[in-house]
Amino acid sequence: MAHELSCVNRPLEMMSSSSTSPNPALLGSFAPLFCSLDSKISFKFPALSRWSSLSPVRIRAAPLRDCSHHFINDESGQSRSNRRRMLLFTSTLPFLSHFHVSMEAIGVEATESDSSNLLLVKKEIKKILSKGKAASLLRLVFHDAGTFEMDGKSGGMNGSIIYELDRPENAGLRKPLKILEKARSEMDSVLSVSWADMIAVAGAEAVSFCGGPPIPVQLGRLDSMEPDAEGKLPQESLDASGLKQCFQRKGFSTQELVALSGAHTLGSKGFGNPTVFDNSYYKILLEKPWITSATAMSSMIGLPSDRALVEDEDCLRWIKKYADNEDLFFEDFKNSYSKLVNSGARWKSL
Ligand code: HEM
Repeated sequence: MAHELSCVNRPLEMMSSSSTSPNPALLGSFAPLFCSLDSKISFKFPALSRWSSLSPVRIRAAPLRDCSHHFINDESGQSRSNRRRMLLFTSTLPFLSHFHVSMEAIGVEATESDSSNLLLVKKEIKKILSKGKAASLLRLVFHDAGTFEMDGKSGGMNGSIIYELDRPENAGLRKPLKILEKARSEMDSVLSVSWADMIAVAGAEAVSFCGGPPIPVQLGRLDSMEPDAEGKLPQESLDASGLKQCFQRKGFSTQELVALSGAHTLGSKGFGNPTVFDNSYYKILLEKPWITSATAMSSMIGLPSDRALVEDEDCLRWIKKYADNEDLFFEDFKNSYSKLVNSGARWKSL
């Protein structure tokens, strides 16, 4: 495993600082090479339509372990020719940084490979997803990624939740992980997916399955081999200022805290239909049923941390906006979720 990490952690990132004109000849010579290694080597370009000086191009390769398995165990002619191509590939890599436009075009192949992997992951997750499981899958995301702290860059979306299931705050999360394990093992023979990726994609699928916004999630996160530090998730007893500070340490604004807390629209805390992802969380927060209604059921609605948000002026501003405008909530939730699942993530690269 250590070997695998050492292979995948060598980033080959190139920063473009100039704009060169397209070089179709070069593109023509490299494209077949990359296509033929499609399943083993992938190239990821950030979702920018044009090359810019701010756009790091990441070239990623599958762990060397996979490559060696492929090249050593198969002594067919196909394998020898792949080996030659691999040699050609590694020897030409240093020169590629000069051909930005060609790399961008090659990236189209890479993007297709990435997205076909993503399609497969989504397909397997959809097989195990149901309305009853959606809430716990979404909660899993926060409990894996929510350990991130900007100071020291510790924790984050790294699959370490699998080592943290005995912690009291993670009670109940063994079940959604088991469900995900089934989907993951279905793909084992064709695609190795990290826990961090599985959880990130599953949470997004859970949201859209329940009527929430579609959320694009990239693959390529690496898993941690150990648990994250304890005590990093917010406690439900925190008041608004404690919640804001906690989220700030993770790089999230008050607006993002309020948007992400809207995840509690799913589940059994009394914010509307437990299997429908909508903005009823905010509408019900504004009604404060735990105060205004005398029924025992109403007094159970929301966690102390949910109720605290509506008592805070900054949070209240966003609660009102999201209660009024579900599209805005969906957009902000989508963006905050994307940020959450990339928090502290380490990515596969050469
Ligand atoms: C703001 C700080 C947060 C606190 C203090 C908190 C705490 C909690 C607690 C105590 C529960 C109840 C668990 C149970 O039923 O036993 C819960 C449920 C849930 N949380 Fe959070 N949470 C927070 C933020 C988030 C975020 C950011 C997300 C996701 C983006 C999230 C997703 C969920 C979901 C979906 C459930 C329902 C789970 C189910 O019914 O199975 N939470 N949360």
